[in-house]
Amino acid sequence: MALPYFLRSAAMALAVVTASPANIYSFRPEVPTALIAQAAASPPVYETRKDHDPSGTGKFYMGREIAQVMGPGGIPWLDRQEREDQEKPTLVIEALKLRGGETVADVGAGSGYFTFRIARKVGPAGKVLAVEIQDEMIATLRQRIAEQKVPNVEVIKGSERDPRLPAKDVDIVLMVDVYHELSFPYEVMTAIRKALKPGGRVVFVEYRKEDPAVAIKEVHKMSVQQLDKEMLAVGLAPLNTIETLPLQHIVIFEKRD
Ligand SMILES: C[S@@+](CC[C@H](N)C(=O)[O-])C[C@H]1O[C@@H](n2cnc3c(N)ncnc32)[C@H](O)[C@@H]1O
Repeated sequence: MALPYFLRSAAMALAVVTASPANIYSFRPEVPTALIAQAAASPPVYETRKDHDPSGTGKFYMGREIAQVMGPGGIPWLDRQEREDQEKPTLVIEALKLRGGETVADVGAGSGYFTFRIARKVGPAGKVLAVEIQDEMIATLRQRIAEQKVPNVEVIKGSERDPRLPAKDVDIVLMVDVYHELSFPYEVMTAIRKALKPGGRVVFVEYRKEDPAVAIKEVHKMSVQQLDKEMLAVGLAPLNTIETLPLQHIVIFEKRD
């Protein structure tokens, strides 16, 4: 199998997959609401640099380079059987603490790897809003909904700036391996904040930038500190981080009001 563009090397990837960290659940220190409001009051700016990572876009946001978007050629990679062992999707779903009946937005749903797993968990009283910007991903999602006869998944075609979610309707937004490639992270997260119910959560799953052994290209990784900075700018408060996955961290934020 050809090496996906975001992996540094197959040998390194294998080495990391076999070295799971210890389970760590950590609650984050409370950030005062006034500080969050103050940070959200002055939107950050984007800059373009000529000198940049070849895997990146040359567009920078709050000091990090935005990655290129994974195209439909990545679908076999997203669907690969080994992903179950390498990325432990069951632990990601566990971290969502679903009780059934929730509205979950899977933003950057891709081919629906998480969409359909969540649809089963939220049950008939809940629903999944699968947001995508690429037509090929949307076609794949629709085809799978029809084939599997899944009644509680709604596909939404978002734009680069707006996921087009209904206002104050969403309990949880999940973004697996998506945030680092948003072309307009500030605009998308501001819209997501509006779509969340008070107390709603945003759950990011991103490759750990803090760990040099994670064999993924740098622009496709994200640190907790960077996410903290970027979420403060849109008025989302850190809630907790979960380090149960071999390669990625689960970083959770909440909308307080
Ligand atoms: C690496 S894939 C991950 C797919 C899926 N979350 C998974 O884990 O299998 C990233 C996806 O995010 C989508 N994406 C990128 N920017 C987006 C945006 N602004 N809004 C919605 N989806 C976006 C891409 O089209 C791509 O399908």
